[in-house]
Amino acid sequence: MTYQQRYISPSVAMTTAFGRSIGRQAFDGLVVALQGDLGAGKTHLAQGIAAGMGIGGTIASPTFTLLNDYVQEDGLSLHHFDVYRLEQADELEGIGFYDYGTEGVTLVEWADRFPEDIWPHAIWIRLERTGADTERGITVIVPERQITWWKGVEADVVGAGYVRTDLDGCVDGR
Ligand SMILES: Nc1ncnc2c1ncn2[C@@H]1O[C@H](COP(=O)(O)OP(=O)(O)O)[C@@H](O)[C@H]1O
Ligand SMILES: [Mg+2]
Repeated sequence: MTYQQRYISPSVAMTTAFGRSIGRQAFDGLVVALQGDLGAGKTHLAQGIAAGMGIGGTIASPTFTLLNDYVQEDGLSLHHFDVYRLEQADELEGIGFYDYGTEGVTLVEWADRFPEDIWPHAIWIRLERTGADTERGITVIVPERQITWWKGVEADVVGAGYVRTDLDGCVDGR
């Protein structure tokens, strides 16, 4: 069983604000699997998540480093992957990928390259251009055990007017 919803973000600032809400409510073990073309907004959402977790400064996309780690003394750590440059799933082992996903918060950009290797408790977020200049569609698929948590995030971001919903949120039998 999963919960699925699509949100519409009108601007880069609102995508970042959406991320901040996720980050403010982040919990130990949260995994966010991000998908979307180059320039879709994955890193901006990730920057919002980091800011919401209290991680200061700008966080860069780990396109070349594969992993950027942000360790906090008084807070959750953030493990930010970008697996775009990996060619095969067996390279994940070499970068220590499977040691993550439980402690702190793990974000994976281009997670759809290796969907079989992403933890089953991951929240999947797909960003896409809608055609309107700075608008992005943000489709979220939430596994059963995270649905109650996600509804809290959703209430926050929709209530604040950061994004609007585009679907009747549906719980399916997947
Ligand atoms: N609503 C929006 N949400 C996110 N980014 C947007 C939005 N509208 C325009 N943009 C622009 O799209 C680009 C997204 O870049 P980035 O977050 O690095 O994408 P990705 O990590 O998916 O390649 C930035 O140049 C940003 O300014
Ligand atoms: Mg990126």
